[in-house]
Amino acid sequence: MPHHAIIEPFRIKSVEPLTFTTPDERRTALERAGYNLFGLHADEVLIDLLTDSGTGAMSSEQWAAIMRGDESYAGARSFERFESTVRELTGFAHVIPTHQGRAAERILFAQTCAPGTIVPNNTHFDTTRANVEFQGAEARDLVCAEGRDLQLDAPFKGNIDLEALEATLRDQGDRVPLVMVTITNNSGGGQPVSLANLRAVRELCDRYGKPLFLDACRFAENAWFVKMREDGHAERTPREIAEEAFRLADGCTISLKKDGLGNIGGVLALNDTELASRCRDDLILTEGFPTYGGLAGRDLDALAVGLLEVTEPDYLRYRVRTAEYLAEKAWAAGVPTVRPPGGHAVYLDAGALLPHIPPAEFPAQALACELYLEGGVRGVEIGTLMFGRPGDAGEPDEVAPNELVRLALPRRTYTQSHVDYVGEVITAVAARADALRGYRIVEQPRWLRHFTARLEPVAGG
Ligand code: F0G
Repeated sequence: MPHHAIIEPFRIKSVEPLTFTTPDERRTALERAGYNLFGLHADEVLIDLLTDSGTGAMSSEQWAAIMRGDESYAGARSFERFESTVRELTGFAHVIPTHQGRAAERILFAQTCAPGTIVPNNTHFDTTRANVEFQGAEARDLVCAEGRDLQLDAPFKGNIDLEALEATLRDQGDRVPLVMVTITNNSGGGQPVSLANLRAVRELCDRYGKPLFLDACRFAENAWFVKMREDGHAERTPREIAEEAFRLADGCTISLKKDGLGNIGGVLALNDTELASRCRDDLILTEGFPTYGGLAGRDLDALAVGLLEVTEPDYLRYRVRTAEYLAEKAWAAGVPTVRPPGGHAVYLDAGALLPHIPPAEFPAQALACELYLEGGVRGVEIGTLMFGRPGDAGEPDEVAPNELVRLALPRRTYTQSHVDYVGEVITAVAARADALRGYRIVEQPRWLRHFTARLEPVAGG
């Protein structure tokens, strides 16, 4: 390539205005929201990096596909197009559409887990963990040692710890209904899983007679990292690599709000005919008829196009470079991040930046709130607010191993100047890191508390 700049590989056909707020307006909004960024109105946020899920821009081809949507209740042409796209990509025989990823997870775990069972995974995403635990099963995280060392620069920190997986299968195999691997490992910093690791997991699953499922929300980003980092794959297309990854598994759940390039959608795809039939029964009860599963025909068509666009090399090169570019801004400001940056997000290490705030006072939430107050940038806490638990009577609260703020990048939505601006906001907050104070919870629900808990600054904040 003759030029250095990796440009956005698209031009803009339709725009959505941003709304600007004053610092006072943001302070009022945050207080009203109980210091929980999920409680803000979209108009109160300038650059929204809360999630890369369902927040991307669709292409003109996807909008054209929307018009082809067939809204027949049963047997829609849209489903046929969706089904054949998913089948060709994944190789799985049964394709069950759902309204989003967690619906696919709920159906799969309801049909495979029971109280006392164990689901090993590299790291469960929060909804995945909640869906496993909702069945009374244990969600066991077995990410490799490198993946637990935030600052370590290693190529495949999403890999599962094969020895730990084998120990679980050997000692408690009768309690394991399936093994899951999340690509990329969102809760572990968006880190990829190598094909070598997936092959080794496949062998273990074969040896112990267990099905392997992928949580494949970001399968295309994972494929790009394999192409860039794993020996022997540089000349392959991301699509070929993704196809191989899926063919090492027996099934997958995917939130198509990520690498489906859709604003809504999910899928459960699998080879086991008997299990698929039970999952379809559950689908009809809760999501919809098997040829639409909670989606409109037009959504299925847009996703069928998105699933092809997402593995284009120009798109993936730009996508991964964007996260790296933002991480470089954070490093220049002296803010440590999980290394290397993930494909879809940069994870600021609030634990390292704010050592004076104890985990029980939510340092990552403090950083997330401050980025909002400083510049209207909304990220998400991935720390004790998300993964901790209130202690039993008299016991201290359970805290998370890491205190991170994830700045997730919606797909094809923001430009380089937006990212430059976010870099300036991070720099301004980093300069007064010592003055930041922690928070305490005022109200919290039983499940997934980070979505709705209300907080207040601790005294002196
Ligand atoms: N698995 C992973 C790895 C995810 O990142 C998500 C969603 C899901 C499953 C659930 O999918 O939202 O369609 O029901 N992650 C979003 C995020 C919410 O912000 O990372 P869903």
